[in-house]
Amino acid sequence: MDDNKKTLYSAVQPTNNLTIGNYIGAIRNFLALQTDYNCYFAIANMHAITVRQNPAELRQRTLSLLALYIACGLNPESTAIYVQSHVSAHAELCWVLNTFTYVGEMERMTQFKDKSAKHADNINMGLMDYPVLMAADILLYQTDVVPVGLDQRQHVEIARDIAQRFNNVYTPTFKVPEALYMKVGAKICDLLDPTKKMSKSAENINGSVFLSDDKDTIIRKFKRAVTDSDTLIKYDPENKAGVSNLLSIYSAFTGKSIAEAEADFAGKGYGEFKLAVGEAVADKLVPIQAEQAKLLADKEYLNSVMKSGAERANYTARKTLSKVYKKIGFYQF
Ligand code: TRP
Repeated sequence: MDDNKKTLYSAVQPTNNLTIGNYIGAIRNFLALQTDYNCYFAIANMHAITVRQNPAELRQRTLSLLALYIACGLNPESTAIYVQSHVSAHAELCWVLNTFTYVGEMERMTQFKDKSAKHADNINMGLMDYPVLMAADILLYQTDVVPVGLDQRQHVEIARDIAQRFNNVYTPTFKVPEALYMKVGAKICDLLDPTKKMSKSAENINGSVFLSDDKDTIIRKFKRAVTDSDTLIKYDPENKAGVSNLLSIYSAFTGKSIAEAEADFAGKGYGEFKLAVGEAVADKLVPIQAEQAKLLADKEYLNSVMKSGAERANYTARKTLSKVYKKIGFYQF
C-alpha cells in the first residue's frame, strides 16, 4: 500500500442481486477511485447473517460477488479484496466498540427500525449491532473516506461518533472517517414506476434490471418500460419521468451526454428508443457476465485473491486492534 495515498473502505453484502442502479451509482464510481486511494473492499458476510440466509446460497453469492467485482474492473493487485469473516479482527473490535455505544442510539437508527419492521419475527442482537460492526470495519483500517449512498449516511456518522468517543476517553487511536458522497451521474429509477429508485428488492422484478440478467431479459424489460402518451424523446424528469430515466440510463451506459442522447433519438419512436437503450445496457453487461462466468470457473484463482486480500487486511487490522487492546488494558504477550 502506498503511504502517500489516503485510505478508502467499502463493503457490500453478498445478499440480493445487484441492479444496473448499483452499477452506475456505486461500482462504476468505486472503480474510478481505486487508483487514487489505498482501497479495501470487503464482502460483508457477517452483516449478511443479521437476516436469516440460506447457507449454500450465502457461500455461492460470496464467490459470485467477488467474481463480479473483478469482472467489472476491480483490481485485486491494488485493492485488498477480502471476505469479512476471514479477518477476525472485525468481530473482536466490534465487541470492544459495543462498550462505547449506547443501546438507545442503536434503537433509533433508521435502518434498524426499518429492518425490525420487515423482519419482526427475527429482531436479533446482530441486527441492532449492525452499525457497530460497520464502525469496526471502517475504523480498523484507519480509513479516510467511505464512499456511500444516502442510505448509509447515518452509519458513517455513528462510526465517526464512536471513533471520537474512544479517542476522547484514551488518546487518538482511530482516524475519524469521512463519508464520500458519490457524484451519482444519474439516479436510476424503476422501469415500471420511474418515480421510484430502482431497487434490488422491488415488488415487480420487471422494473429492475439485474447485473445477472441475460440479453433477452434485458431487452424484454426495456421494451416494457413505462413512458408516456406523448412522442417526444426529451429529458424532463418532472413531466416525463420514464423517458428521462431511459435517457439517463442510455447516457450512463454509452458515456454520451444527455444532449447527445436526445440528439441520437430525435424524430424516432419510443419503440426504437427503448430497444436502443436495452441494447446499450446489454452491450456493457454481456462481456462482464462472460468474464464473471470465466472467473467463477476458476475457484483456485478466486481463493488466491481472497486469501491474499485477507492477509493484507489482517495485517493492518491487527495493528489497530493491538493498539486498542493496549489502551483498554487487555494484557498482551
Ligand atoms: N452496510 C453496507 C450496505 O449494506 C455494507 C457495509 C458493511 C459497509 N460494512 C461497511 C459499507 C463498511 C461501507 C463501509 O451497503
